[in-house]
Amino acid sequence: MRVYCEKDYDQASRRAANIIAAQVVLKPDCVLGLATGSTPVGAYKELIDKCEKGELDFSQVRSVNLDEYKGLSPENDQSYRYFMNTNLFDHINIDKNNTNVPNGLEPDADKACADYDAIIESMGGVDLQLLGLGHNGHIAFNEPAEEFSKGTNCVKLTQMTIDANARFFESKDDVPKEAYTMGIGSIMKAKKILIVACGEDKAEIVKKAFTGPITPQVPASVLQLHPDVTLVGDAAAMKYMV
Ligand code: GLP
Repeated sequence: MRVYCEKDYDQASRRAANIIAAQVVLKPDCVLGLATGSTPVGAYKELIDKCEKGELDFSQVRSVNLDEYKGLSPENDQSYRYFMNTNLFDHINIDKNNTNVPNGLEPDADKACADYDAIIESMGGVDLQLLGLGHNGHIAFNEPAEEFSKGTNCVKLTQMTIDANARFFESKDDVPKEAYTMGIGSIMKAKKILIVACGEDKAEIVKKAFTGPITPQVPASVLQLHPDVTLVGDAAAMKYMV
């Protein structure tokens, strides 16, 4: 595992964006696995900047996002499709037809998950998967569990995750209770993984996930078994790692 400890959020975002940019330059038609949450916003801004300056071309890039709230439409400003459009896709020259997010409006969970697995499969796998890290060690929406999930699955969000994400909603009651998420198995199949964690509140879980035992109770700990992981964090989140 490569570990980059950066001074602050902006530097960490720059580092993460440079790693994503390098992937796009090396393989212009690569498949990027993308993430939501507040962590990647800075990296997305950097990518937009590079694209606007003509340094980066997303015209052939394809993408798959990690997860989506069950029940939210793409137009809902809390949906992850909306997040991706407004924080990245609307501002770069990616073809939106080549971008994928689980279908939150599909009420049949089995169908939604099977359809998404088929999309990932049809793209030939993910070249670089970007991840954030939940406070309980969740990656995508794979919450602590008895076993590691395989493919896309429908999860009941834990109270901790609902509370953490409530800041984006008008009230806690508005946070959906379920989500469709790419499975741990699918994430582990990505050729390269880039996980970004920032802020003091992530320090404990970074330590647990990357220096503690590998257990589905800390889903991100499975990344210790992946052959090509890059961890980027700011000094606050990385304080136990240096
Ligand atoms: C959500 C997302 C995750 C993300 C996590 C952390 O639960 N489903 O993909 O990593 O939040 O979010 P943040 O980056 O805002 O701390």
